[in-house]
Amino acid sequence: MAMELSCLSHTTTSANGYRIVPPGVPLRVHNRLSNTVCLAEVSKRHTKSEIFHAKEICSSGRTKLKHSSQSRKRFNKIHAISAEKEKQADTSVPPIPKSIHDISNGDHILGFGADLSEDHPGYYDNEYKKRRSYIADLAKIHKPGEPIPCVDYSAEEIRVWGLVLDTLVDLYPTHACKEYIDSYKLFNFKPNHIPQLQELSEVLEQTTGWHIRPVAGLLHPRDFLNGLAFRTFHSTQYVRHGSNPMYTPEPDICHEVLGHVPMLADPEFADLAWVIGQASLGASEKDIWHLTKLYWYTVEFGTVKEGSEIRAFGAGLLSSIGELKHMREGTDGVMPEFVELDPFKKMPKMSYKDGYQKKYFLCESFADAAAKLRSYSRSILKPEVMSMNFGGTPIQL
Ligand SMILES: [Fe+2]
Repeated sequence: MAMELSCLSHTTTSANGYRIVPPGVPLRVHNRLSNTVCLAEVSKRHTKSEIFHAKEICSSGRTKLKHSSQSRKRFNKIHAISAEKEKQADTSVPPIPKSIHDISNGDHILGFGADLSEDHPGYYDNEYKKRRSYIADLAKIHKPGEPIPCVDYSAEEIRVWGLVLDTLVDLYPTHACKEYIDSYKLFNFKPNHIPQLQELSEVLEQTTGWHIRPVAGLLHPRDFLNGLAFRTFHSTQYVRHGSNPMYTPEPDICHEVLGHVPMLADPEFADLAWVIGQASLGASEKDIWHLTKLYWYTVEFGTVKEGSEIRAFGAGLLSSIGELKHMREGTDGVMPEFVELDPFKKMPKMSYKDGYQKKYFLCESFADAAAKLRSYSRSILKPEVMSMNFGGTPIQL
């Protein structure tokens, strides 16, 4: 699914399964290609059939749009409304959370549970959708500070995890940064056991003071980034669909555990992520999107110099054998580009469905990247955030 509508409150459902949105009801349009969200609303001139069409457009993906000029025209109409609303939204920044308790892990989910897009590998698998809903519901009832509910993973889920782990583990010594390799040893990952978030969170608490909090699906960027300010990483718990274990269109437990968790046990990397989180508190919508891109090109797809080599530290790399090989060897004879990170510069659009990344940002070190991010964060930080105390630690920008 390229586009996704959510926040459809006050709606009814038609016989063919589409939700009918009355004029004036705000809705959220999530572009999963660019991972951006706009607010939109149905204007009075739209008929029900057009709304159905809009839903269809939004779930049909880029390929169909390319072949349908009419669809593209209507999509643009919706998008124009979205841009206007997004501009308005910039003036209404929500209150700054004072603790992790002020951040909801279930109110602003952009995609979760059984609500899979048509191009998702599990879209036609009702059992898989039911399982996703069950695991999503476990996350929704969790409160910060309480033990994270355990998931009793099935043999099929463990099979998928084991395949992913066995494939990636051979590449880490040559492709992962030394901090990842060092921290990896703390966790003793095994192919026949999917780690529970609770056990991982306890290790992080002891090493860097970070916590894991379960989340039902893709959290809104503001909430997700705000969580980082309180040293909390929101993590999914479900497993990708077993039909294609080496691919997932969204974060899953394999991505979270193998990509993110070991890096969060490294103090300098954890500091880098914390800086992004602090800057996100009270940030305008525009700044949130810039920070989301900075997060994307560092925490998800960042690379770092190690002597004459380039090593991966981003979770999107460390949890994907294809992306790791692409970073080092290129694809079809085309090598990716490596550029220096400059947080003040406009960042490229994010994409995770157009194949591997064409451009990676290269850091001298985590300390250097954190210093640059700190400098940028200072330029947008809200005065009231400067006086905040993050669990006994004042802000360090
Ligand atoms: Fe991630």
